Amino acid sequence: MNESTITPGGGQPGTPGQPAGSAGRAEVGSVAVHTFATHKTPTDTTVHQNSDDTTTQTEPGLAELPDGQFFDPDAEYEPDPEYAATIAPDAARQRRERIGPTGRPLPYFPIPGPVKERGPATIIAMCNQKGGVGKTTSTINLGAALAEYGRRVLLVDFDPQGALSVGLGVNPMELELTVYNLLMQRGMAPDEVLLKTAVAGMDLLPSNIDLSAAEVQLVSEVARESTLQRALQPMLSDYDFVVIDCQPSLGLLTVNALTAAHKVIVPLECEFFALRGVALLTETIEKVQERLNPSLQLDGILATMYDSRTVHSREVLARVVEAFENHVYHTVIGRTVRFPETTVAGEPITTYASNSVGAAAYRQLAREVLARCHAE
Ligand SMILES: Nc1ncnc2c1ncn2[C@@H]1O[C@H](COP(=O)(O)OP(=O)(O)OP(=O)(O)O)[C@@H](O)[C@H]1O
Ligand SMILES: [Mg+2]
Repeated sequence: MNESTITPGGGQPGTPGQPAGSAGRAEVGSVAVHTFATHKTPTDTTVHQNSDDTTTQTEPGLAELPDGQFFDPDAEYEPDPEYAATIAPDAARQRRERIGPTGRPLPYFPIPGPVKERGPATIIAMCNQKGGVGKTTSTINLGAALAEYGRRVLLVDFDPQGALSVGLGVNPMELELTVYNLLMQRGMAPDEVLLKTAVAGMDLLPSNIDLSAAEVQLVSEVARESTLQRALQPMLSDYDFVVIDCQPSLGLLTVNALTAAHKVIVPLECEFFALRGVALLTETIEKVQERLNPSLQLDGILATMYDSRTVHSREVLARVVEAFENHVYHTVIGRTVRFPETTVAGEPITTYASNSVGAAAYRQLAREVLARCHAE
């Protein structure tokens, strides 16, 4: 393992089993007040707990967080006016009827049980050639939420801009070894490039501008599309999930990510041009399925930056559900300034603002992703 350990925001690295920044953190600004609602039981749900999913909690729907707090993604939140955008205006009705923001009945996603067997990892590519849709934010926070649920997670920064590395408190300019070296130098040991993050159980393969050279250099390589797959192979037994943050293009790096992946998550920003370019993306996914990676699946479309106060956001989400039906995750990520704040802090929202609605949304996404995995 690389000597350096990431210290987000210049702080201390986390101690094992306890993500840095979770215990004793004073919340920045006011956050949603969390009350444990009694309106729901697992019996009023449409998806039932997988028999593999055992939980030690006595109360259904509550997961114990590493710092001893409890989190219930279905609990009633007292909206903080500043972040009310993430709460539906008719929240009471939605809760009563259990209609989710996508307009479909909201299933209950069980609390993931402990992992029985480590690896081989499921590889997820976070992909959309459109820029600024929430790929990096979703990679960091889905990864951190999966790690909170006891999964071993490897995040791969596969964008030469290094935004994922920055978002986890790493300065890409100071890196000597990155994912580029792992791709291009034969015999490079993954441990030399791997960084531990402040989130227990989550590691990072960082990147910087060097990776842009790989796109050019790979062109003349044999089996150039499967270079990342070969590089990741020796690490898969150490992790449960590998999440690859793709760059906003459909070039050779993204094709490498799709060739290595088992599943694709496509984040879509809830704004007018959200669906523009998605046809090209699905075409690319199909081509990779046909020619390079027959086991590749579209796991889901993730609606991000949803603002339920605006008719526009609601209309876009309705269009996305109309177009992709059950491929759209029930979990929707609301728009909140907390996410840009986390980039500055260099840590996931699950530790930066553990009780925020944004953190709850990514934990819910982790549960949905795990439920989809178990359903296979
Ligand atoms: N749910 C959200 N609410 C508000 N802001 C968000 C949300 N998700 C992401 N952002 C912000 O939007 C910007 C773009 O997000 P992000 O970097 O995750 O997108 P991206 O798809 O990875 O972009 P790129 O294509 O450039 O790699 C960032 O400033 C991020 O903090
Ligand atoms: Mg990005």
